[in-house]
Amino acid sequence: MRSATPTAAAPGRAGFPPGPRLPAPLQAIDWLRGSTSVLRRCHRRYGDMFTVNLVAKVAAGPAADAEHGRWVFLAHPDHVKQLLTADPSAVRTGETNRFLEPLVGPRSILVLDGQEHRAQRRLMLPPLHGDHIAGYGELMSEVAEAELRRWPVGEPFGLWPSMQAITLEIIVRAVFGVRDPDRVRHVTGVLRTLLNRMTSPAWLAAHAALATVAGSSPAGFSRAGRRLIDPVDDVINDEIARRRVAPDLEDRTDILSLLVRARYKDGSAMTDRELRDELMTLLIAGHESTATALAWAFERLLRHPDALERARAEADTGGEDYAGAVAKEALRLRPVLPFVLRALGRPMEIGGHALPAGAWLAPCAYLIHRRPDVYPEPLRFRPERFLERPEGAYTWMPFGGGVRRCLGASFAQLEMRRVLRAVLRHADLEPADPEAERISARFITLAPARGARVVLRGRR
Ligand code: HEM
Repeated sequence: MRSATPTAAAPGRAGFPPGPRLPAPLQAIDWLRGSTSVLRRCHRRYGDMFTVNLVAKVAAGPAADAEHGRWVFLAHPDHVKQLLTADPSAVRTGETNRFLEPLVGPRSILVLDGQEHRAQRRLMLPPLHGDHIAGYGELMSEVAEAELRRWPVGEPFGLWPSMQAITLEIIVRAVFGVRDPDRVRHVTGVLRTLLNRMTSPAWLAAHAALATVAGSSPAGFSRAGRRLIDPVDDVINDEIARRRVAPDLEDRTDILSLLVRARYKDGSAMTDRELRDELMTLLIAGHESTATALAWAFERLLRHPDALERARAEADTGGEDYAGAVAKEALRLRPVLPFVLRALGRPMEIGGHALPAGAWLAPCAYLIHRRPDVYPEPLRFRPERFLERPEGAYTWMPFGGGVRRCLGASFAQLEMRRVLRAVLRHADLEPADPEAERISARFITLAPARGARVVLRGRR
């Protein structure tokens, strides 16, 4: 790998790295038209650190400090490592996630920083740890197999909504712990309404308009969004109440039951508010992201006959190593979240730039994953690369990194392997159109523009 610009020798240049000089509103328009082409263009022109100026209106609302619209992108793994391994008191994440607070609530791990974040993470880590979640593999295969039996034969359909149905049911059953089939249907239906709205262009336009009227204040937004969120809160609070009095609580293995049983260092339990906010967080963080990652995995795999053949042969024998490599390669070329954001709590020198406190930095998985010095022939879809060499913590980062790394990374990858295996074993799919699907922005994720359209040729 080319080494990063030295940071220690010379004192850094004060201020932000270079970037497009267009007025911010024009940069914002450019960004909305296609953020990944802006990222590629800027990387080519300005190198591994550049500044894009969107004046805060995309994410944080116009009432926010204008500094928040200026994002410094980091495309070198050394710079990213420096930032993500820095003392957490010097780097804040909750602040950059504030726009999610109306939805996930003030006690969500996503919006907390420092000691409060650490305490929540300590409680949430064991239930989402690889050892514990292995027990959900069977359920994941079962949900995928039931879903693929509903696919029409011989006519094109989008895999993306189908993947959403799978990941939602898995969350309702494994995370919320709902067992009764009628109740699973009811809870899934209520959550579906909110999630569909969140990714619809109309809702996004309304969100932007509300942010303009109400500023970035969560209260301002939540008044208008209440009607959408209230039914979901009712369902979640109901599940929490049922679980608190469940006679078999001690034997249950779903994540909600584990969180109800968990204790902070001082021996206290999570409050209903905390449980509600973390369940909503797991739903929002874990559903759409995994469904989109799966849609991309199929979109890429079905267009690469050699890889497809190898993956099918493995699925028939019950293995899942190659399926895991397919998932990793899809997440490399199509990271669902192309970058994460961090706010500097104090000044920091990175890559020769002395950045001020308050600056927002964006470690960029999308650009790092396309570096030819890390990934030879970077644009080629070749899952084998992950069988030949394990992924690096700061060169493969679809799940972010450091003390905020995705808590559901093992869960999501197990789910991807199981769904890939179930589909490859039982369904002969082919792409509905030969051309690759474009990348299209949906809420904060990047999804296949045509919804990963396929044709089912037959079941096996
Ligand atoms: C392929 C699917 C997924 C992708 C691509 C993904 C990606 C990410 C990313 C990029 C972050 C931010 C990390 C950072 O700021 O450094 C994150 C955070 C998080 N994710 Fe995921 N995620 C996925 C699935 C899941 C699932 C299935 C769950 C839970 C069931 C989950 C729960 C979380 C939580 C709780 C956080 C916040 C961690 C913290 O702030 O400490 N994610 N995820």
